Amino acid sequence: MTQDELKDAVAKAAIDEIKPHLERSTVIGVGTGSTANRFIDYLARLSGDFKGAVASSAASAERLKTHGIDVFELNEVGTVPFYIDGADEVNAHLHMIKGGGAALTREKIVAACAERFICIADASKYVAQLGRFPLPVEVIPMARSYVARQLVKLGADPVYREGVVTDNGNQIIDCYDFMIEDAEAMEAKINAIVGVVTNGLFAARGADVLLLGKKEGVERTA
Ligand code: 5RP
Repeated sequence: MTQDELKDAVAKAAIDEIKPHLERSTVIGVGTGSTANRFIDYLARLSGDFKGAVASSAASAERLKTHGIDVFELNEVGTVPFYIDGADEVNAHLHMIKGGGAALTREKIVAACAERFICIADASKYVAQLGRFPLPVEVIPMARSYVARQLVKLGADPVYREGVVTDNGNQIIDCYDFMIEDAEAMEAKINAIVGVVTNGLFAARGADVLLLGKKEGVERTA
């Protein structure tokens, strides 16, 4: 199976996971990226079975609306029963690196408001140790150089993701050569640097369910 087919399989599996719990009043948290996009496309087929969605990016909001799915502000909704999103890396603790698509902050906010975070990923994303994928850090633009210097002190090789402005008007630094031993501790340490909005480690609030697309089928871990 190709990576695209595996992404497709986990998107469908996420639909099967949430379908029995949908009510006409349900608002679903929806993530960002190519795997989340497939989920959105399948979700559109269930229109009428749920109320709408909260999106973790302008791009996902646009895709949802294109399918005729109502998009709500998180502040109107409060909590969502499910948040479905992809990952750049995920480990056995269901800790993740996210933010390859620069949507990490909104993703973390929607995840924080979700009763259940369902991570959908193809097998290439599963790792023994987080960090081969460069860890994204969203920064307030004027703090970029300062934050980069602090990231060097933590052992990273920070690289400014040129030309990218987040939905929040901020910039992204990617941390290369930065294998992570203790994801929760590193998440907190980076977030404590002045000028950091958030970093792409999702460990304090990891996933509750992982649907991992393998050539043998979708493996569910909870
Ligand atoms: C976007 C993300 C995505 O979830 C992550 O990059 C995975 O994307 P894809 O499903 O395209 O591989 O965190 O900010």
